[in-house]
Amino acid sequence: MIETSAQLRQAFLDFYAAKQHQIVASSSLVPGNDATLLFTNAGMVPFKDVFLGTDKRSYSRATSSQRCVRAGGKHNDLENVGYTARHHTFFEMLGNFSFGDYFKEEAITYAWEFLTTVLALPKEKLLVTVYESDDEAYNYWLNNIGVPAEKIIRIGDKSADKKYESDNFWSMGDTGPCGPCSEIFYDHGEDIFGGPPGSADEDGDRFIEIWNLVFMQYNRHADGTMENLPKPSVDTGMGLERISAIMQGVHSNYEIDIFQALIRDTAKLLACDDLEHKSLRVIADHIRSCSFLITDGVMPSNEGRGYVLRRIIRRAVRHGHKLEAKSFFFHKLVASLAEQMGQAYPELVQQQETIAKILRIEEEQFGRTLDRGMTLLEDILATLKGDTIAGADVFKLYDTYGFPADLTADIARERDIKIDHDGFDAAMAEQRTRAQKASQFGTDYNEALKSAHHTEFNGYTQSDMTATVIELFNSESSVTQLNAGDSGIVVLDKTPFYAESGGQVGDSGVLFIGDGKFEVTDTFKLGNAFAHQGIAHHDIGLNQSVKAQINTERRAAIVKNHTATHILHATLRKVLGEHVTQKGSLCDAEKLRFDFSHFEAVTAEELSTIENMVNEQIRCNLARETSLMAIDEAKAKGAMALFGEKYDDEVRVVTLGDFSTELCGGVHVERTGDIGLFKIVAESGIAAGVRRIEAVTGIAALNYLAQQEQTLNAIATLVKADQNNVASKVEQVILRNKQLEKEIAQYKQKLASHAGADLISQAAEIAGVKVLIANLNGVEAKSLRGMVDELKNKMSSGIILLATANDNKVSLIAGVSKDLVSQVKAGELVNIAAQEVGGKGGGRPDMAQAGGSQPENIAAALTAAETWLKDKLN
Ligand code: ALA
Repeated sequence: MIETSAQLRQAFLDFYAAKQHQIVASSSLVPGNDATLLFTNAGMVPFKDVFLGTDKRSYSRATSSQRCVRAGGKHNDLENVGYTARHHTFFEMLGNFSFGDYFKEEAITYAWEFLTTVLALPKEKLLVTVYESDDEAYNYWLNNIGVPAEKIIRIGDKSADKKYESDNFWSMGDTGPCGPCSEIFYDHGEDIFGGPPGSADEDGDRFIEIWNLVFMQYNRHADGTMENLPKPSVDTGMGLERISAIMQGVHSNYEIDIFQALIRDTAKLLACDDLEHKSLRVIADHIRSCSFLITDGVMPSNEGRGYVLRRIIRRAVRHGHKLEAKSFFFHKLVASLAEQMGQAYPELVQQQETIAKILRIEEEQFGRTLDRGMTLLEDILATLKGDTIAGADVFKLYDTYGFPADLTADIARERDIKIDHDGFDAAMAEQRTRAQKASQFGTDYNEALKSAHHTEFNGYTQSDMTATVIELFNSESSVTQLNAGDSGIVVLDKTPFYAESGGQVGDSGVLFIGDGKFEVTDTFKLGNAFAHQGIAHHDIGLNQSVKAQINTERRAAIVKNHTATHILHATLRKVLGEHVTQKGSLCDAEKLRFDFSHFEAVTAEELSTIENMVNEQIRCNLARETSLMAIDEAKAKGAMALFGEKYDDEVRVVTLGDFSTELCGGVHVERTGDIGLFKIVAESGIAAGVRRIEAVTGIAALNYLAQQEQTLNAIATLVKADQNNVASKVEQVILRNKQLEKEIAQYKQKLASHAGADLISQAAEIAGVKVLIANLNGVEAKSLRGMVDELKNKMSSGIILLATANDNKVSLIAGVSKDLVSQVKAGELVNIAAQEVGGKGGGRPDMAQAGGSQPENIAAALTAAETWLKDKLN
């Protein structure tokens, strides 16, 4: 009995395995080596290059259950989530693939057999579509499968001038493999609204497309031209959630096992009684995409993939807000998801805590502005004229309150209101300074440069060899010759130069052309070709034989850093915990840089433990072994695989004794002892939940230490110490400094009181009252108070007003002895003066202070005060 989603997934894979298909594990949601695509949006994405013929596999038939996200780019279902029974941001796609093996007939036969025999779906519930002109597929359905003609619907292009823009012509993106397709629909029955495909009501939920059989035939180029694929191929996709709904006898994907559990748990967290509430569905959908994206290494951010993730999280949080969430709830659902899907995706369980923490941080961040943003939005809606929110308002919500435009659109849609997307884009464009096309994907060279060649890499064991030039490029396009003085790219048939990948930088070196040379400054991949980038010092043409020689000294430094990175990675997991996963890495000749998930700064003590452990493994002089094995075998050995990397079915595994096992195509030292020494030079945070360690090895580590020593010696010399007692000497210097500062303060105080004594002699008499008014220009404001106290003591009866100016700031203070406060209030007196210097003050009747900003008016201020006093006292 096939019923649960898990059973279905397995039955599908088993069915195709029995038909000689290789079962291939789901790849990452971040497509490996593919800058044209935001997310893996279909089962065929990991096989894109196999369809194009630039990647070879040991099999020509494959099957998979691929995790997919459709929340950006060509295939984007984000806006439909919650509004239909069958759209998701995240879903699993069951698929079978033929790489130039079988074509339409088998694709159709197998699919029909699986649906009607294995799943035993009633044939009369099924109908199919074909691309309008695809008679071949039409006839096969009709004559060989026996689908009645009225249930085979031809679907054409959307309009005459938009060739291939059709529901029955599938493409991965704007470029890449594509072809006509045939879709299988399931009729959920008359009681559900909707019409058959091609009809006006096709968007209803009655006839649901469950399986798309794509007959891959072309490669679409950026200019729209279609090139035939090397061999006609097949790519199919069936949404696991849709077929589960049918098998579980429900009409909406949200009613299937996985979703019901998530919805129940969400409802419980939010104390919501209405299990049908649309927002529960949205949240249940979003926790899946968000968790899986984070598992695959995407971090919330303000651009690219990270921004899509952030938008989905915010959308979920807003729906929680709608259900009157009392506290942060979204991250708590990770546990529920891990329970539902952890068996099929163990990484979800392993990273559960990490995912929850990242989501929580995002929830908190957005939570701070959500309420205020909602208030503003309500105001905007309340006073809205017409049915569209202005772009500037949408932008303000975005910019000030962190409301992504689609979130505002989602809320507006609930009230039948639209947003002005163009206006928003215009406001955005004004502000946008960020480079859209992430430069991380490209090189300085024209991104359109492509090579169909394959370079054999021999650099694991060789540092020089004779090779032949098979392709040349200048910065724009393919050429047949580079002249002396030109910069460009040389592609060789084989090479010892490592091309940048997996964090290891490309090699530099020289291609010798007889006595002349081409200087290689960097090496990177163009498809499967290795691009040697540099400057020609001699003419170089196609078919030229060259002696390729890498810079061995630089390479040696690079590989030390690379192997040290593996040791560091394993060490971090031991010292900090298994939640540590690689988020990025760079190994060049100078240093290594390793980014990893971790939630707080690594303490000094931990850093020292880490450094010691890495050095211990270096001293153990572990042998480095590399072997090729099947990906499943490698995973079984516990090899650490990295996000965003596309792994072939056969992978290279690098082990360092029992200490580290990683999938890696890079070059390494022979024994860990070759690294010599490992020294951490910096630890920092680079994003929420991501830390970075920078370190040096070998000579660079020694140089670093030597540098440190020099600094230390310089300090020691300055404080007249040696290395052993420099710290206590410096401490003494600091203490002495503090002591001296204190003494200086005391002296200043004394000086001020002496000045006070002198002042008394300046006191005058007004109507028999002793009055002292003085400008102490430059005396510290701090000492005024003490001076007034002292003067009051000495004068026993009298009135004092002192002024001083420091750094363009005026300070005034007034003191009145107790016997006189009934006649003159210190506060009043000081204010009279303060008015003249642009200030104001206050205090007790016997003592008051004020400030001001016009030192040039001090004299006038004191005169004004004196005049006022005369008035008062007479
Ligand atoms: N790649 C096809 C799709 O996604 C099967 O519909």
